[in-house]
Amino acid sequence: MDELQLEILLDHYNNPRNFGHLENPDIVYEDGNPSCGDQIRIEIKLENDRISDIKFTGKGCTISQASASILTEVVKGKTLEEVKNFGKEDMLNALGIPISPIRLKCALLALKVLKAGIYGINTWPGEED
Ligand code: FES
Repeated sequence: MDELQLEILLDHYNNPRNFGHLENPDIVYEDGNPSCGDQIRIEIKLENDRISDIKFTGKGCTISQASASILTEVVKGKTLEEVKNFGKEDMLNALGIPISPIRLKCALLALKVLKAGIYGINTWPGEED
């Protein structure tokens, strides 16, 4: 495993980026992983179909919380169309460490919440079809 990438992940967990709440968000969505109860809440501010600001709160395992932090950094400033095309593989690439099948739902929880909040697609990424 890439030690540096693991350190980056742990840093996101310990010092989450874009953590907190927005004033008057346009989109608020919260959901959890039913198998463990871990939660993510995402708040989004839109400007002309672009994510101008995004914050999250949550509680749960290292991978779920670190991936939420990483995801908010990745999608901030992107258009909704660009976010729509950001899929499961992109999220796993952004994490940069191998994720075992059993931790896949941890790694994809934030993306699921984001997509459900924006598009109403409430399935695990990769299970849309
Ligand atoms: Fe619950 Fe990872 S163990 S999301």
